[in-house]
Amino acid sequence: VSATGRTAADVLLDGETIAAVLAPGSTLLGHDLAASVDTVIDATGKYVIPGGIDAHTHMQLPFGGTSASDTFETGTRAAAWGGTTTMVDFAVQRAGERVQDGLAHWHELAAGNCAIDYGFHQIVGGVDADSLAALPGLIDEGISSFKMFMAYPGVFYADDAQILRAMQVAADTGLLTMMHAENGPVIDVLAEQLIEKGKTSPYFHGVARAWQMEEEATHRAIMLSHLTGAPLYVVHVSAKQAVEQLAWARDNGQNVFGETCPQYLYLSLEDQLGASSEEWGDFEGAKWVCSTPLRSKHEGHQHHMWQALRTNDIQMVSTDHCPFCMKDQKTLGQGDFRAIPNGIGSVEHRLDLMYQGVVTGQITLERWVELTSTTPARMFGMYGKKGVIAPGADADIVVYDPSGHTSIGVGKTHHMNMDHSAWEGYEIDGHVDTVISRGKVVVDDGAYLGTKGDGRFVKRGLSQYLI
Ligand code: URP
Ligand code: ZN
Ligand code: ZN
Repeated sequence: VSATGRTAADVLLDGETIAAVLAPGSTLLGHDLAASVDTVIDATGKYVIPGGIDAHTHMQLPFGGTSASDTFETGTRAAAWGGTTTMVDFAVQRAGERVQDGLAHWHELAAGNCAIDYGFHQIVGGVDADSLAALPGLIDEGISSFKMFMAYPGVFYADDAQILRAMQVAADTGLLTMMHAENGPVIDVLAEQLIEKGKTSPYFHGVARAWQMEEEATHRAIMLSHLTGAPLYVVHVSAKQAVEQLAWARDNGQNVFGETCPQYLYLSLEDQLGASSEEWGDFEGAKWVCSTPLRSKHEGHQHHMWQALRTNDIQMVSTDHCPFCMKDQKTLGQGDFRAIPNGIGSVEHRLDLMYQGVVTGQITLERWVELTSTTPARMFGMYGKKGVIAPGADADIVVYDPSGHTSIGVGKTHHMNMDHSAWEGYEIDGHVDTVISRGKVVVDDGAYLGTKGDGRFVKRGLSQYLI
């Protein structure tokens, strides 16, 4: 299955590379194919798809006085289990730090530890003359995209003047600007007012992060993109009004893109409001504290997001995998939701969760591949090597069994370094059977055969969506 169609075929791998895609019954130099190769993987009745590309993950991200609980070792292994063979994580530059130093640190964290190939976007957490001057040099380092935050004042936040300057550099160089589009200063006031009224539980995280402030920030980013000519990629879109902004801008001919995540397709603010357990009481809802937040199902955001995947108003699905355990991490925010580290862990479940959209008729099989592999490869300058099953491409392949079954949760298919799952109890019609990462079988029907260090840094080129 590719982004454009499906066919019965044999895929011939040679070492780390795809050598040929052959019609069934083809021979190799006159010999029967199966008899001429070292190993045969029988995928009869199953889907053979390009390995998943998760273009938004945060291994070991420092946040709220702690760090995301998956290391590059545990997080990339969990990704491999779920059929993701490439991830693009975020190297972090903090205010006052050199971009080059932030990036070097992230290389140290990842090198030799990854189960699958990985690349980096650059977080620019402090836009100043030094970091602006460093941006063009990222391209030679294989880093063709950077993220700024209109949220989180005092942490990663960039104001409009800073964003303008960075986008001017992006327009000049071909770097792709990724934006966390939420109006942080307004959200912080709303959050403070809720706390003052004693509304401290996790649910109020979502109340404070009102959709109006996602719509507004998305619009502002779009206008700055229009002004500067820098293409724009808005990350983790959750509000239908933000989608409408993106659709409007695209209809106006702007080169803007949106990414959503499985949590915004399936989960809602009401799930969080209703969450309660013996262990955590109503603090249970902390498991779903992420930004942008889960949205109310009564406002129809989730339904609208699936529709946007069909109409291409949203082009990609990444996880924004940013795991924190309840114990000693999420619990930092007991009594004050503002101190709950933000993030959900889903890197292992993206292909499965999105395949449910195929099962329920929300997206086609081809669109599933496009959203989870082919567009991410094109968007972030890896296409040809990644995102496609074709001669010359890296042999990153998943055999997906549509008649298989997957039960999600801690103690089930969960290999992420987390003490809970945002997806506990989800039952999937489908199963990742075999995962091949650059020619090596790393997952074989319930057995993990990879090793740490299998994954290499991917030097990415410029986005193929630049015009
Ligand atoms: O809640 C989230 N998304 N945590 C990770 C940081 C970010 O903003 O992507
Ligand atoms: Zn973000
Ligand atoms: Zn993120």
